[in-house]
Formats: sequence, structure tokens, C-alpha cells
Amino acid sequence: MNQLQLAEQMAPAIRMIYAPDGRAVVSYSKEGDEDASLYTCESRWKEDFTAFCNGNTADKETVQVDGIGYFTVKREKNSEALSGKIAVVTGSAQGFGAHIAQYLCSMGARVVLADMNYDGVCARAADLSKTYGVATLPVLVNVSNEDSVREMIQKTVLSFGGLDIFINNAGIVRAGSLEEMTKENFELVTSVDYTAYFLCVKYAHEDTACMCAGLYGGHY
Ligand SMILES: NC(=O)c1ccc[n+]([C@@H]2O[C@H](COP(=O)([O-])OP(=O)(O)OC[C@H]3O[C@@H](n4cnc5c(N)ncnc54)[C@H](O)[C@@H]3O)[C@@H](O)[C@H]2O)c1
Repeated sequence: MNQLQLAEQMAPAIRMIYAPDGRAVVSYSKEGDEDASLYTCESRWKEDFTAFCNGNTADKETVQVDGIGYFTVKREKNSEALSGKIAVVTGSAQGFGAHIAQYLCSMGARVVLADMNYDGVCARAADLSKTYGVATLPVLVNVSNEDSVREMIQKTVLSFGGLDIFINNAGIVRAGSLEEMTKENFELVTSVDYTAYFLCVKYAHEDTACMCAGLYGGHY
């Protein structure tokens, strides 16, 4: 397992040890703050961090794990229903996905806006952060590509410390009669609407027991 994969496993655990109700976010960086409040190592970070958190009510701490990097954990103080929760919405550059992302931000969630249209999610994410005062992260993804999905989940976990809500919204429609529909179109729809759902749930589930939702029957 490489350094980033180890960090990806540690970040959600750090978040839950610090705030068992999940109302906290963790950001990871390879290089970091020299003034980390706890210095520990890979073999005993969990014990050290658990002891460090006992009775600790600080809003923010940084822990340095030797050879892995720096984890900054911040407690969420706002009281909206989803404050401190972390959500991914695929296909959120426009349409339903963009509005679901907006709704989640309005409820206080940190939202990862993921789409093939990177310029679209960058603009949307910036707009939502400005309007609702919450952190957002635009991510380029092709949900039918396994490496791309794995990378989307890794970026989410290393930026925010976990994943609580996954909205499997990205999808396409290519409809037609048997005469009109080509095998290529059928396979394209299958890869984006069905295979992608499997890939997203597979990698989202590996990081956390998140809640996954699709927009219509075929997505479940
Ligand atoms: N609009 C409807 O009436 C309707 C009805 C039933 C179900 N749906 C489903 O709801 C979802 C959203 O619909 P919409 O109307 O907002 O769609 P839309 O076409 O407006 O938006 C879909 C978004 O998904 C993105 N996307 C497409 N393929 C992708 C891929 N491989 N990887 C990453 N991103 C990708 C697109 O770039 C786009 O931003 C779709 O799954 C659609 O099939 C829509």
C-alpha cells in the first residue's frame, strides 16, 4: 500500500476518533505544518491519537504521522442538518445534479461536485461556496472508468476526511427503436448508467459506510 492509500485509510478513522458524531472534516497533505500538535508514527498512530483526543475539545488540531503526512482535523460548529457531513454528487455540472449539490450545500454539507465537464463543476462549486459559505471540491471524473472513480473517492477522502452521502446522478439517455439503436449506443448507456453505478458504490463503500442513492430505478 502506498503513502496516499495509507492516508486514505487513516483520514476517516481520524475524523471519527476526533468527532464520533461525524461532525468534523479532515484534510490531508504530504507536506505540512511544522507545528503539528501531535507527532506519531504508522505503527501506533491510532492509540496515540485516541489518547490525545481524550477530553480534547479544541476546534482544530494537526497530527503528523511519520512517513505519511499531516492531517488537520476541524470540528464543525454550525448547526445546519448536514453541517460537517461530506457528500459526492456525480454529474453535478448541470441539471438535477447541480441542484442536488446546491440543496446539500444549503444544508451545510461539504460537497464534491464530480463531472466529465470539469469547467462546469469548477464554476458551480465556486458559486455554491460563495453563496452558502461551505467548502466544495470540483473533481473531473468519468464514472464509467474504474481508475477515474477510484481517484474521485480518494480525492474526496483526502480533502474532507470521509464520505457520508453519495448521489449517483451522472447518467445519459440514448433511446430509440431496435432499428435506430446501435450496439455502440447500447454499450455506452450500459457503461454510464449501470457499470458506473457498480464502480461508484464499490469504491465509495471501501472508504466508509456511506448512504448511496440513484435517481431512478435502474440505478439501484
Ligand atoms: N431529466 C429527466 O427527465 C430525467 C428523468 C429520469 C432520470 N433522469 C436521470 O437523472 C440524471 C440527471 O439527469 P439530467 O437531466 O440532470 O441530465 P443532464 O444531461 O442535464 O446532466 C448529466 C450530467 O452528467 C454528466 N455526465 C454524463 N456522463 C458522465 C460520465 N461518464 N462521467 C461523469 N459525468 C457524466 C454530464 O456532463 C452532465 O453534467 C441522469 O442519470 C438521467 O438519466 C433524468
